[in-house]
Amino acid sequence: MLARRTQTNEPARCATLLPALAQLTEPVALIEVGASAGLTLLFDRYSYDYDGQQVAAPDGAAPVLRCGVRGPVPVPDQVPAIVWRAGLDLNPLDVTSDDDMHWLSCLVWPGEGDREQRLAAAITAARRDPPPVYRGDLRTDLVALADRAPAGATLVIYHSAVLAYLSAHDRQQFARTVRELDCVWLANEAPGVVPGVPEPAGYRGPGPFLLVRDGEATLAMTEGHGGWVHWLQV
Ligand SMILES: C[S@@+](CC[C@H](N)C(=O)[O-])C[C@H]1O[C@@H](n2cnc3c(N)ncnc32)[C@H](O)[C@@H]1O
Repeated sequence: MLARRTQTNEPARCATLLPALAQLTEPVALIEVGASAGLTLLFDRYSYDYDGQQVAAPDGAAPVLRCGVRGPVPVPDQVPAIVWRAGLDLNPLDVTSDDDMHWLSCLVWPGEGDREQRLAAAITAARRDPPPVYRGDLRTDLVALADRAPAGATLVIYHSAVLAYLSAHDRQQFARTVRELDCVWLANEAPGVVPGVPEPAGYRGPGPFLLVRDGEATLAMTEGHGGWVHWLQV
């Protein structure tokens, strides 16, 4: 514990982000800040089951992420084409390292057997072609990474359970930086964390995250570990 950081990587969050991702113009290029081991960069390596509505991965052996549906969730027919992806993290975890992956499994709360199995399956899928996660600080290194994204694709910069690690001042600075980039910005964070985003009507926290596009539109409430998505906008 003295040598490592708390950097849970929950692949099921892909299921709560996918409906927003699938609304964008394809193909997409992905940058995830605070990517940990990069398991939430791998939308196209998982299949999805939204209360019986299936979204199949090309790989028949892909782990299935099950996600409850509340409200008019725009469940897509398929995962959008991803032409490029990159993660940024203060301390990237290496999916090919047994030691790093053991640490990730230690961060799953006791008794949550489904999370352990999902994590193990996602690590197996990731090891077939490990995602690139670069060492860096989202406060200082995002612009240089965004410059490497290919032209001709919609650049999506996103994060999940990350901005809470920053001070209020640094969150404001990050929001200014990402707004100046030519990108779509998706935030999946606890209420009150994304600058300027109010809690939605009827919100009874603490609990779900808010899925916010471009720092303005609250698209959905999402269970923090990807268990369900409650869509607020069509
Ligand atoms: C709780 S984990 C979330 C991982 C992943 N986004 C997910 O949803 O599963 C938060 C991650 O953010 C990273 N992080 C925190 N502050 C950061 C910073 N300033 N720059 C880059 N990464 C940061 C941590 O190292 C950690 O891996």
